Amino acid sequence: MTVTLAPMEGVVDFYMREILTRIGGFDLCVTEFIRVSNTVFPASTFYKYCPELKQGGKTYSGVPVHVQFMGWDGNLMGENAAVVCELGAPGIDINFGCPAKTVNRRNAGAALLQWPERVHEVVKAVRQAVPDNTPVSAKMRLGFEDTSLALENAQAIESGGAGKLTVHARTKLEGYKPPAHWDWLARIKEAITIPLVANGDIWTLEDYKRCREVSGCEHIMVGRGAIAKPDLGRVIKNFEAQETLRFIAWPEMLDLLLDYYQLIKDTPLPAGVSGRLKQWIKLLSRTYPEAEEFFVTARLIQQPKDIAIAIEEARRKL
Ligand SMILES: Cc1cc2nc3c(=O)[nH]c(=O)nc-3n(C[C@H](O)[C@H](O)[C@H](O)COP(=O)(O)O)c2cc1C
Repeated sequence: MTVTLAPMEGVVDFYMREILTRIGGFDLCVTEFIRVSNTVFPASTFYKYCPELKQGGKTYSGVPVHVQFMGWDGNLMGENAAVVCELGAPGIDINFGCPAKTVNRRNAGAALLQWPERVHEVVKAVRQAVPDNTPVSAKMRLGFEDTSLALENAQAIESGGAGKLTVHARTKLEGYKPPAHWDWLARIKEAITIPLVANGDIWTLEDYKRCREVSGCEHIMVGRGAIAKPDLGRVIKNFEAQETLRFIAWPEMLDLLLDYYQLIKDTPLPAGVSGRLKQWIKLLSRTYPEAEEFFVTARLIQQPKDIAIAIEEARRKL
């Protein structure tokens, strides 16, 4: 089985991929989406989204990073995909799941799921534009407003030439509202022959076991769960290999937060270094009660270096 770290705009960037793949358990990463509307981007854009291109398309820990595109014009997406392949991308993923209004208004992301034939055309154009040995995959939701076209869309993706499909088991209308409908994944799995990757609401090892049972999928993708519980991939792999489960305790988690701070402290991140640190601490509250308590202090701190000092202090007190 494989565990993929989900693409998450504004959350899973080069630095987060670096920290999380160091922990282990992940077989593959996918970049945040690159939105294609009317241009072929210069190499600098691709290096921004995927700095790993400069290191063989892998994180320092050796985990491949596929580049994700989103758009409605398959030919233009294909041209962009061809460039990024020349730069060394080990794989291309196509986004049919984004629920953002600005994106959907242009009939991209999840909006395309209203027209399986367009989905097919996009996948086909991208598949034809990149070298035969470059994997092309797609990621979709169960539908736009309802699930009526779920199977057609999955089949359109397969017949377009994708080698793998990831399904976030909710419609666009459902946003992120629990539960994810893992039972639908079992139906999709029956309808296609390419590997299906289950995604949505896998927060713990128990969730993984249930998702696997209900969906029948051996491959999974984890997003928020991997941020809230950075050892999730490793623990799932430990379980599958019948090894001792290696959890990350809070003191080690604080060390990871400091490592993350060191990586991002001098970078011009859009939401700012403090924003990223606070975002992570907040999500960690789901797993670590200590994080919830620590967030109360951290949220009031403005300067990133002061957050780092607070983390160091918390670490010393343990
Ligand atoms: C903040 C955020 C950003 C996301 N960005 C992307 C993205 O760039 N591309 C994509 O395909 N999915 C994106 N997603 C969806 C996730 O990849 C995933 O499908 C979703 O979060 C459900 O999985 P989870 O329950 O494991 O988090 C994003 C989700 C969140 C919460």
